[in-house]
Amino acid sequence: MSDFDSRLNLYQQRVDKALDACLPDQLPVRHTLTEAMRYSVIGGGGKRIRPAMVYAAGEAMGVDAAILDTPACAVEIIHTYSLIHDDLPAMDDDDLRRGQPTCHRAFDEAVAILAGDALQAHAFEILANNDFHVEDRRRLEMITLLTQASGSEGMAGGQAIDLASVGKQLSLEQLEDMHRLKTGALIRASVLLGAMCNPAISDDELKLLGQYAECIGLSFQIQDDILDVVGDTETLGKPKGSDEKMQKPTYPSILGLDESRQLALEQHELALTYLEQLDANTETLCQLSAYIVERNC
Ligand code: IPE
Ligand code: IPE
Ligand code: MG
Ligand code: MG
Ligand code: MG
Repeated sequence: MSDFDSRLNLYQQRVDKALDACLPDQLPVRHTLTEAMRYSVIGGGGKRIRPAMVYAAGEAMGVDAAILDTPACAVEIIHTYSLIHDDLPAMDDDDLRRGQPTCHRAFDEAVAILAGDALQAHAFEILANNDFHVEDRRRLEMITLLTQASGSEGMAGGQAIDLASVGKQLSLEQLEDMHRLKTGALIRASVLLGAMCNPAISDDELKLLGQYAECIGLSFQIQDDILDVVGDTETLGKPKGSDEKMQKPTYPSILGLDESRQLALEQHELALTYLEQLDANTETLCQLSAYIVERNC
Protein backbone atom coordinates (compact mmCIF):
# COMPACT_ATOMS: atom_id res chain seq x y z
CA MET A 1 0.00 0.00 0.00
CA SER A 2 1.41 3.44 -0.93
CA ASP A 3 1.89 6.15 1.69
CA PHE A 4 -1.04 7.99 0.21
CA ASP A 5 -3.32 4.93 0.36
CA SER A 6 -2.48 4.42 4.03
CA ARG A 7 -3.13 8.07 4.76
CA LEU A 8 -6.50 7.89 3.00
CA ASN A 9 -7.29 4.77 5.03
CA LEU A 10 -6.35 6.53 8.21
CA TYR A 11 -8.61 9.47 7.39
CA GLN A 12 -11.45 7.05 6.53
CA GLN A 13 -11.10 5.19 9.82
CA ARG A 14 -10.90 8.43 11.73
CA VAL A 15 -14.04 9.93 10.21
CA ASP A 16 -15.95 6.63 10.42
CA LYS A 17 -15.36 6.57 14.16
CA ALA A 18 -16.34 10.23 14.54
CA LEU A 19 -19.48 9.73 12.41
CA ASP A 20 -20.56 6.75 14.47
CA ALA A 21 -20.14 8.79 17.63
CA CYS A 22 -21.94 11.90 16.38
CA LEU A 23 -25.03 10.42 14.69
CA PRO A 24 -28.20 10.09 16.74
CA ASP A 25 -28.63 6.63 18.18
CA GLN A 26 -31.72 5.84 20.17
CA LEU A 27 -30.92 2.39 21.42
CA PRO A 28 -32.58 0.29 22.67
CA VAL A 29 -35.64 1.72 20.86
CA ARG A 30 -34.27 2.92 17.56
CA HIS A 31 -36.81 4.48 15.30
CA THR A 32 -36.81 4.16 11.56
CA LEU A 33 -35.60 7.66 10.87
CA THR A 34 -32.37 7.36 12.84
CA GLU A 35 -31.89 3.87 11.41
CA ALA A 36 -32.15 5.27 7.88
CA MET A 37 -29.71 8.06 8.71
CA ARG A 38 -27.16 5.61 10.08
CA TYR A 39 -27.78 3.15 7.23
CA SER A 40 -26.90 5.75 4.61
CA VAL A 41 -23.96 7.39 6.37
CA ILE A 42 -22.31 4.36 7.91
CA GLY A 43 -23.90 1.29 6.30
CA GLY A 44 -22.37 1.51 2.83
CA GLY A 45 -18.84 1.99 1.58
CA GLY A 46 -18.40 5.69 0.87
CA LYS A 47 -14.91 6.80 -0.13
CA ARG A 48 -14.96 9.63 2.44
CA ILE A 49 -13.13 11.83 -0.01
CA ARG A 50 -14.59 15.09 1.33
CA PRO A 51 -13.51 14.34 4.92
CA ALA A 52 -10.07 13.47 3.47
CA MET A 53 -10.00 16.96 1.95
CA VAL A 54 -10.87 18.53 5.32
CA TYR A 55 -8.07 16.58 7.03
CA ALA A 56 -5.50 17.11 4.27
CA ALA A 57 -6.11 20.86 3.97
CA GLY A 58 -6.26 21.32 7.74
CA GLU A 59 -3.09 19.36 8.37
CA ALA A 60 -1.28 21.23 5.59
CA MET A 61 -2.17 24.40 7.50
CA GLY A 62 -0.93 22.97 10.79
CA VAL A 63 -4.29 22.03 12.36
CA ASP A 64 -4.61 19.00 14.67
CA ALA A 65 -6.66 16.13 13.25
CA ALA A 66 -8.80 16.05 16.43
CA ILE A 67 -10.05 19.57 15.66
CA LEU A 68 -10.87 18.53 12.10
CA ASP A 69 -13.22 15.68 13.03
CA THR A 70 -16.25 17.97 13.35
CA PRO A 71 -16.00 19.69 9.95
CA ALA A 72 -15.06 16.33 8.40
CA CYS A 73 -18.26 14.78 9.77
CA ALA A 74 -20.33 17.82 8.76
CA VAL A 75 -19.31 17.67 5.08
CA GLU A 76 -19.75 13.90 4.89
CA ILE A 77 -23.21 14.15 6.43
CA ILE A 78 -24.28 16.89 4.00
CA HIS A 79 -22.85 14.84 1.13
CA THR A 80 -24.73 11.72 2.23
CA TYR A 81 -27.97 13.69 2.48
CA SER A 82 -27.40 14.92 -1.08
CA LEU A 83 -26.89 11.32 -2.27
CA ILE A 84 -30.10 10.08 -0.58
CA HIS A 85 -32.13 12.78 -2.33
CA ASP A 86 -30.19 12.41 -5.60
CA ASP A 87 -31.25 8.75 -5.78
CA LEU A 88 -34.98 9.38 -5.22
CA PRO A 89 -37.43 8.49 -8.00
CA ALA A 90 -38.11 12.21 -8.53
CA MET A 91 -34.41 12.76 -9.21
CA ASP A 92 -32.08 10.06 -10.62
CA ASP A 93 -34.29 7.13 -9.64
CA ASP A 94 -31.44 4.78 -8.69
CA ASP A 95 -31.66 1.56 -6.69
CA LEU A 96 -28.06 1.04 -5.62
CA ARG A 97 -25.76 3.31 -3.63
CA ARG A 98 -22.45 2.50 -1.97
CA GLY A 99 -23.02 -1.16 -2.77
CA GLN A 100 -26.35 -1.43 -0.97
CA PRO A 101 -29.99 -0.61 -1.81
CA THR A 102 -30.60 3.14 -1.88
CA CYS A 103 -32.24 4.62 1.19
CA HIS A 104 -35.72 4.82 -0.38
CA ARG A 105 -35.42 1.17 -1.46
CA ALA A 106 -34.24 -0.09 1.92
CA PHE A 107 -36.88 2.00 3.74
CA ASP A 108 -39.40 4.04 1.75
CA GLU A 109 -39.51 7.37 -0.05
CA ALA A 110 -40.92 9.35 2.85
CA VAL A 111 -38.28 8.01 5.23
CA ALA A 112 -35.55 8.76 2.67
CA ILE A 113 -36.73 12.35 2.27
CA LEU A 114 -36.82 12.81 6.04
CA ALA A 115 -33.46 11.11 6.56
CA GLY A 116 -31.93 13.61 4.11
CA ASP A 117 -33.66 16.52 5.86
CA ALA A 118 -32.56 15.34 9.30
CA LEU A 119 -28.97 14.73 8.17
CA GLN A 120 -28.75 18.22 6.76
CA ALA A 121 -29.93 19.70 10.06
CA HIS A 122 -27.57 17.43 11.98
CA ALA A 123 -24.53 18.59 10.01
CA PHE A 124 -25.19 22.19 11.02
CA GLU A 125 -25.98 21.23 14.58
CA ILE A 126 -22.59 19.60 15.12
CA LEU A 127 -20.79 22.50 13.48
CA ALA A 128 -22.64 24.91 15.76
CA ASN A 129 -22.47 22.91 19.00
CA ASN A 130 -19.48 20.55 19.07
CA ASP A 131 -16.59 21.67 21.18
CA PHE A 132 -13.76 21.73 18.66
CA HIS A 133 -11.59 24.69 19.61
CA VAL A 134 -12.60 27.18 16.96
CA GLU A 135 -13.54 30.74 17.97
CA ASP A 136 -17.24 31.64 17.68
CA ARG A 137 -16.64 34.20 14.94
CA ARG A 138 -14.73 31.68 12.84
CA ARG A 139 -17.35 29.03 13.59
CA LEU A 140 -20.03 31.35 12.17
CA GLU A 141 -17.97 31.87 9.02
CA MET A 142 -17.63 28.10 8.67
CA ILE A 143 -21.37 27.55 9.10
CA THR A 144 -22.09 30.28 6.54
CA LEU A 145 -19.67 28.71 4.06
CA LEU A 146 -21.30 25.30 4.40
CA THR A 147 -24.84 26.72 4.06
CA GLN A 148 -23.83 28.51 0.86
CA ALA A 149 -22.16 25.40 -0.52
CA SER A 150 -25.30 23.34 0.18
CA GLY A 151 -28.07 25.72 -0.79
CA SER A 152 -29.47 27.35 -3.91
CA GLU A 153 -26.08 28.86 -4.76
CA GLY A 154 -24.36 25.54 -4.25
CA MET A 155 -25.30 21.86 -4.32
CA ALA A 156 -29.09 22.23 -4.33
CA GLY A 157 -28.90 24.91 -7.04
CA GLY A 158 -26.70 22.65 -9.16
CA GLN A 159 -29.06 19.73 -8.67
CA ALA A 160 -31.95 21.93 -9.83
CA ILE A 161 -30.05 22.81 -13.02
CA ASP A 162 -29.21 19.12 -13.48
CA LEU A 163 -32.88 18.16 -13.37
CA ALA A 164 -33.94 21.05 -15.60
CA SER A 165 -31.33 19.93 -18.17
CA VAL A 166 -32.65 16.42 -18.74
CA GLY A 167 -32.76 15.69 -22.46
CA LYS A 168 -31.25 19.09 -23.34
CA GLN A 169 -28.03 20.03 -25.08
CA LEU A 170 -26.01 22.25 -22.74
CA SER A 171 -23.09 24.37 -23.84
CA LEU A 172 -19.75 23.50 -22.27
CA GLU A 173 -20.00 26.65 -20.20
CA GLN A 174 -23.45 25.73 -18.86
CA LEU A 175 -22.26 22.20 -18.08
CA GLU A 176 -19.25 23.55 -16.20
CA ASP A 177 -21.49 25.92 -14.19
CA MET A 178 -23.79 23.05 -13.26
CA HIS A 179 -20.89 20.85 -12.15
CA ARG A 180 -19.29 23.63 -10.14
CA LEU A 181 -22.51 24.05 -8.20
CA LYS A 182 -23.76 20.51 -7.75
CA THR A 183 -20.41 18.96 -6.81
CA GLY A 184 -17.72 21.66 -6.78
CA ALA A 185 -19.26 23.84 -4.09
CA LEU A 186 -19.19 21.16 -1.37
CA ILE A 187 -15.68 20.07 -2.35
CA ARG A 188 -14.50 23.67 -2.14
CA ALA A 189 -16.15 24.01 1.26
CA SER A 190 -14.44 20.79 2.46
CA VAL A 191 -10.98 22.13 1.64
CA LEU A 192 -11.68 25.58 3.08
CA LEU A 193 -13.34 24.31 6.28
CA GLY A 194 -10.24 22.30 7.11
CA ALA A 195 -7.95 25.27 6.50
CA MET A 196 -10.21 27.69 8.40
CA CYS A 197 -9.62 25.73 11.61
CA ASN A 198 -6.24 27.48 11.71
CA PRO A 199 -7.14 30.85 13.27
CA ALA A 200 -4.07 32.48 11.70
CA ILE A 201 -4.76 31.44 8.10
CA SER A 202 -4.37 34.39 5.71
CA ASP A 203 -6.79 35.52 3.00
CA ASP A 204 -4.12 34.77 0.39
CA GLU A 205 -3.76 31.20 1.61
CA LEU A 206 -7.53 30.72 1.60
CA LYS A 207 -7.75 32.15 -1.89
CA LEU A 208 -5.13 29.73 -3.25
CA LEU A 209 -6.75 26.78 -1.51
CA GLY A 210 -10.13 27.87 -2.90
CA GLN A 211 -8.70 27.97 -6.42
CA TYR A 212 -7.15 24.52 -5.94
CA ALA A 213 -10.47 23.22 -4.64
CA GLU A 214 -12.43 24.59 -7.59
CA CYS A 215 -10.16 22.67 -9.96
CA ILE A 216 -10.47 19.37 -8.10
CA GLY A 217 -14.21 19.89 -7.70
CA LEU A 218 -14.60 20.11 -11.45
CA SER A 219 -12.22 17.22 -12.18
CA PHE A 220 -14.12 15.16 -9.60
CA GLN A 221 -17.44 15.49 -11.40
CA ILE A 222 -15.86 15.03 -14.85
CA GLN A 223 -14.37 11.75 -13.60
CA ASP A 224 -17.74 10.79 -12.08
CA ASP A 225 -19.35 11.35 -15.50
CA ILE A 226 -16.61 9.27 -17.16
CA LEU A 227 -17.05 6.42 -14.68
CA ASP A 228 -20.78 6.37 -15.37
CA VAL A 229 -19.79 5.29 -18.91
CA VAL A 230 -16.68 3.16 -18.40
CA GLY A 231 -16.98 1.94 -14.81
CA ASP A 232 -18.72 -1.20 -13.66
CA THR A 233 -21.63 -1.30 -11.28
CA GLU A 234 -19.98 -3.57 -8.75
CA THR A 235 -16.83 -1.46 -8.39
CA LEU A 236 -18.79 1.78 -8.43
CA GLY A 237 -21.33 0.54 -5.90
CA LYS A 238 -23.94 2.46 -7.90
CA PRO A 239 -25.55 1.73 -11.26
CA LYS A 240 -23.36 2.33 -14.29
CA GLY A 241 -25.19 4.11 -17.12
CA SER A 242 -27.51 6.10 -14.87
CA ASP A 243 -26.75 9.36 -16.73
CA GLU A 244 -27.52 7.91 -20.15
CA LYS A 245 -30.69 6.29 -18.85
CA MET A 246 -31.88 9.64 -17.51
CA GLN A 247 -30.58 11.60 -20.55
CA LYS A 248 -28.33 13.76 -18.43
CA PRO A 249 -25.93 16.13 -20.14
CA THR A 250 -22.42 15.06 -19.05
CA TYR A 251 -18.85 15.70 -20.16
CA PRO A 252 -18.59 12.43 -22.14
CA SER A 253 -21.97 13.04 -23.78
CA ILE A 254 -20.84 16.46 -25.01
CA LEU A 255 -17.10 16.02 -25.56
CA GLY A 256 -16.53 12.27 -25.78
CA LEU A 257 -14.38 10.24 -23.39
CA ASP A 258 -10.91 11.27 -24.60
CA GLU A 259 -11.51 14.98 -24.41
CA SER A 260 -13.24 14.61 -21.07
CA ARG A 261 -10.21 12.77 -19.68
CA GLN A 262 -7.99 15.49 -21.09
CA LEU A 263 -10.03 18.20 -19.41
CA ALA A 264 -9.96 16.42 -16.05
CA LEU A 265 -6.15 16.14 -16.32
CA GLU A 266 -5.88 19.83 -17.18
CA GLN A 267 -7.85 20.70 -14.05
CA HIS A 268 -5.53 18.45 -12.01
CA GLU A 269 -2.46 20.20 -13.39
CA LEU A 270 -3.98 23.61 -12.78
CA ALA A 271 -4.80 22.59 -9.22
CA LEU A 272 -1.12 21.83 -8.58
CA THR A 273 -0.06 25.30 -9.76
CA TYR A 274 -2.08 26.83 -6.91
CA LEU A 275 -0.62 24.47 -4.33
CA GLU A 276 2.91 25.35 -5.49
CA GLN A 277 2.32 28.93 -4.41
CA LEU A 278 1.58 27.91 -0.83
CA ASP A 279 4.34 27.85 1.74
CA ALA A 280 3.19 24.56 3.30
CA ASN A 281 3.54 20.81 2.98
CA THR A 282 0.88 20.17 0.35
CA GLU A 283 1.94 16.67 -0.65
CA THR A 284 -1.30 14.99 0.43
CA LEU A 285 -3.38 17.66 -1.31
CA CYS A 286 -1.37 17.03 -4.54
CA GLN A 287 -1.96 13.29 -4.20
CA LEU A 288 -5.67 13.81 -3.57
CA SER A 289 -5.95 15.75 -6.81
CA ALA A 290 -4.17 12.95 -8.72
CA TYR A 291 -6.34 10.31 -7.04
CA ILE A 292 -9.51 12.10 -8.16
CA VAL A 293 -8.65 11.78 -11.85
CA GLU A 294 -7.15 8.27 -11.60
CA ARG A 295 -9.82 6.58 -9.45
CA ASN A 296 -12.03 3.81 -10.80
CA CYS A 297 -14.82 4.26 -8.26
C1 IPE B 1 -20.75 10.83 -5.69
O1 IPE B 1 -19.76 11.22 -4.80
C2 IPE B 1 -21.63 11.97 -6.00
C3 IPE B 1 -20.99 13.08 -6.67
C4 IPE B 1 -20.98 14.26 -6.19
C5 IPE B 1 -20.40 12.87 -7.96
P1 IPE B 1 -18.65 10.20 -4.30
O2 IPE B 1 -18.05 9.51 -5.50
O3 IPE B 1 -17.71 10.91 -3.40
O4 IPE B 1 -19.51 9.14 -3.50
P2 IPE B 1 -19.16 8.29 -2.20
O5 IPE B 1 -19.23 9.22 -1.04
O6 IPE B 1 -17.79 7.70 -2.37
O7 IPE B 1 -20.22 7.22 -2.15
C1 IPE C 1 -24.81 14.09 -7.99
O1 IPE C 1 -24.29 13.88 -9.25
C2 IPE C 1 -24.22 15.17 -7.30
C3 IPE C 1 -24.87 15.36 -5.99
C4 IPE C 1 -25.05 16.54 -5.52
C5 IPE C 1 -25.32 14.23 -5.18
P1 IPE C 1 -24.62 12.44 -9.82
O2 IPE C 1 -26.08 12.21 -9.90
O3 IPE C 1 -23.82 12.23 -11.04
O4 IPE C 1 -24.01 11.52 -8.64
P2 IPE C 1 -24.04 9.95 -8.70
O5 IPE C 1 -23.33 9.54 -9.96
O6 IPE C 1 -25.47 9.52 -8.65
O7 IPE C 1 -23.25 9.54 -7.48
MG1 MG D 1 -27.78 13.34 -10.03
MG1 MG E 1 -27.13 10.37 -9.35
MG1 MG F 1 -22.77 10.55 -11.56
